[in-house]
Amino acid sequence: SIPLFTTVSSFREWRRKVYDERKSVGFVATMGALHEGHLSLVRKSLAENDLTVMSIFVNPAQFAPHEDLATYPRTLPGDLELLTAESMMVVNPSASEPITRKASAVFLPTVSEMYPSGISQDTSAQKGAFVEVKGYGHQMEGQSRPTFFRGVATIVTKLFNAIEVSGALSDPFSRSHGGARQPTNAYFGQKDIQQALLLRRMCKDLLLSHPDPSHVHIVPTARDPTNGLALSSRNAYLTSDGKKVAPTLKEALTAAESAWNEGLTKRECVLRAEQVIDAKRTQARSEGLEVEMRLDYVQLNDSGTFEVVEDQSRRLGDGSDPVILSGALWVDKTRLIDNIILGDQ
Ligand code: PAJ
Repeated sequence: SIPLFTTVSSFREWRRKVYDERKSVGFVATMGALHEGHLSLVRKSLAENDLTVMSIFVNPAQFAPHEDLATYPRTLPGDLELLTAESMMVVNPSASEPITRKASAVFLPTVSEMYPSGISQDTSAQKGAFVEVKGYGHQMEGQSRPTFFRGVATIVTKLFNAIEVSGALSDPFSRSHGGARQPTNAYFGQKDIQQALLLRRMCKDLLLSHPDPSHVHIVPTARDPTNGLALSSRNAYLTSDGKKVAPTLKEALTAAESAWNEGLTKRECVLRAEQVIDAKRTQARSEGLEVEMRLDYVQLNDSGTFEVVEDQSRRLGDGSDPVILSGALWVDKTRLIDNIILGDQ
């Protein structure tokens, strides 16, 4: 079974040992309630690193006081089963036989371990050190969840630091593995595109070398193969009627994407998405489904700055960063998010 570590010190001991064994480490941060999306990150890490570490920690600092910290699904035994079942055959040029890799460790810290100064969800009552990526966290998701990215940037920095060991930088292994003291590679999902890009920005701005921004990898969104719904731990909150309408968010974004590809204005793209949601609401009512749908936003933002994109004609062929088309939809009390990177294949 996979070794579990609940304290930073025991985890660092393990980390120190694998550093001495010259192993590269891939890191997948999660809040548990694992699904195929999380596992796709694990698979990528297994393929690209000697060892893969997952953290499971429901981070209080990224939940606002009115949000779902208390009810967030906690399914540890099932999570460990799923993770244990995951393996990857890799062909190692130096070995005659392909080898099978599995996740090597799970870091399961307590809240007091990660927040030695304590943590309140009320930002005005918080004490201690926090990480804020200014200018990149107030748009899109940050507009609806103003304290979210501060909580995410803080916990991910702490997790990166928990994986740190004190290897000498002049050590040739350390240099050839991009440091290899903190995680060699970290994996985040496109499902939370702003989070992934903001964390890459954070690594750049804090001059982190483990991982440096080029070792922060973004893995495509895993979806329900039957209806395109982006997989999410929060989908567990959906009622059976809620599940019937949840795929509408992806359909709405796809409609907006087509409008964009037809060269329509931003307003028209957003309108197309809204029409898809409205049509689904009408249909659900006529079928007698008991479900409320409320669109939080559909937005178009620059993936480099997150600034709102107003006009596509100015952007065509100007070498600027791709545009993110993203949306958030409330289905009853469940908030779903999704995105498409325009022009992405
Ligand atoms: P969580 O929602 O558990 O997600 C953990 C990682 O899995 C994130 O990088 C997320 O983008 C990725 N992920 C979730 N659903 C996915 C899907 N359908 N396809 C691909 N990747 C998916 O995101 C968090 O936790 C937290 O904010 C965290 C980064 C752990 C910090 O607390």
